[in-house]
Amino acid sequence: DRLPALLCAMPKAELHMHIEGSLEPELIFALAQRNGVAIPYASVDELRQAYAFTNLQSFLDIYYAGASVLLKEQDFYDMAWAYLERAAADNVVRTEMFFDPQTHTARGVDVKVVIDGLHRACVDAEATLGVSAALILCFLRHLSEEDAFETLEQALPHRDKFIGVGLDSSEVGHPPEKFAKVFGRCRELGLHLVAHAGEEGPPAYVWSALDVLKVERVDHGVQSARDPALMARLAQDRIPLTVCPLSNLKLCVFPDLKAHNLGTLLDAGLVATVNSDDPAYFGGYMNENFLQTFAATGLTAQHAWQLAANSFEGSFIDDAAKAGYV
Ligand code: HPA
Ligand code: ZN
Repeated sequence: DRLPALLCAMPKAELHMHIEGSLEPELIFALAQRNGVAIPYASVDELRQAYAFTNLQSFLDIYYAGASVLLKEQDFYDMAWAYLERAAADNVVRTEMFFDPQTHTARGVDVKVVIDGLHRACVDAEATLGVSAALILCFLRHLSEEDAFETLEQALPHRDKFIGVGLDSSEVGHPPEKFAKVFGRCRELGLHLVAHAGEEGPPAYVWSALDVLKVERVDHGVQSARDPALMARLAQDRIPLTVCPLSNLKLCVFPDLKAHNLGTLLDAGLVATVNSDDPAYFGGYMNENFLQTFAATGLTAQHAWQLAANSFEGSFIDDAAKAGYV
């Protein structure tokens, strides 16, 4: 069977990963020591054992605790560089990385420190790994829209170092329309727009991400399959869904990978893609997501080709560069 080799070898773009979610337990401990930050786990093994999630919120609590060791520009660089090396090993040739500035500014870390460290890793990745890397600033949806506006203001002096904005954190109870005004402002600024919707939340949240926020891609979006009219809209407008199979498995969105609806989304003609979300927490980087999903669901080489093509179509590289990949 040559399918696993194809999945690993094919060039691909990653469109949905949170750089703070690439922080491996070993690096959390190393940074905790380097920065003199106390963490409530005695060892790397003990921390890894805490990675048993029942839903999105149970993950977010540990994910934000892990990010508390990040203080200096070099910390952000080291985190991003470790991910970019892993991405290159999986034949990811383009990655659009989310970062959560509010997780850091709330601890007194300047947004400039965050962005400069991450951006320097992106520049080095292009030069030495051959990976094209860009940053997307995410607003935390459990916080207020006013907070999001303040974060945007703080980040705008660094406008040249990120390509767009997204919306992440606790979904249910925080619908997209809560951020209508700040997304409207970002749209005026010419930023690319994406949002998490339909991970745990209902199809209505995907509709409002599209119609109120006017996003270009939907992150996760797997709950869209419950709404035929929404499926038709996503197919018609070729709105990419950045699906994260191992994330969905670990956060109990699907009971097992065999039950995942990626095949349904692809066969309905949607621009679905495969992504790692928070690879250090969910048990795998890009190729592991492809390998486990294909092994469980019986997707074919044709689906693999479609997923790779979709990843470049859905990316924010310019059209000339896209023509070179697809
Ligand atoms: N969903 C929402 N917020 C997140 C996620 C996710 O999968 N990962 C990191 N922040
Ligand atoms: Zn995500």
